[in-house]
Amino acid sequence: MTESELFSMAVNAAEESYSPYSRFRVGAALLTEDGRVFTGCNIENSSYSLTVCAERTAVFKAISEGFDKFRAIAVAGSADGDFSRPCTPCGACLQVLSEFCGDDFTIVLADRKYRLSELMPNRFTAANLK
Ligand code: THU
Repeated sequence: MTESELFSMAVNAAEESYSPYSRFRVGAALLTEDGRVFTGCNIENSSYSLTVCAERTAVFKAISEGFDKFRAIAVAGSADGDFSRPCTPCGACLQVLSEFCGDDFTIVLADRKYRLSELMPNRFTAANLK
C-alpha cells in the first residue's frame, strides 16, 4: 500500500460524507500495522457540535473492530471536488490519533506527508498524567 494509494482511498471515502451543512466532504483512510485499511467520512449533525470528522470515524471503526496499531492515515477534504489541496486534521482528531499512535505515525495530506510529532509537537499523552 503506497501513500498515494492510501490517499486515493481517502478521496473515495469522501463520497460517503454526510455534510449537508458545510458541504465540505472529507474522507480518511487509516492503515493498520498489519496492512488493513479502515476508511471514514465526516458525519455532520443539525446541532453542529455533534459532527464527527472523517479521521475520528476511521479511528473509531478500527478500534471497535479490535485494531489499535496504526502506521499511517490519509485525509482528503474538499468543497469543490478538488482534493489536491491539503486538509489538515483538526486538533481533536490529532489528539484522538495521539492516543494510539507514536511520534513517527505518518499523516498523508494530498502530495505531502508529515509525522504526528510535526503536526502536534509536545503532544499531551498519558505519560503527562501523574
Ligand atoms: N472535517 C473533517 O472531517 N476533517 C478535517 O480534517 C477537517 C474538518 C469536517 C468537519 C465538518 O463536517 C467539515 O469538515 C467542516 O469543518
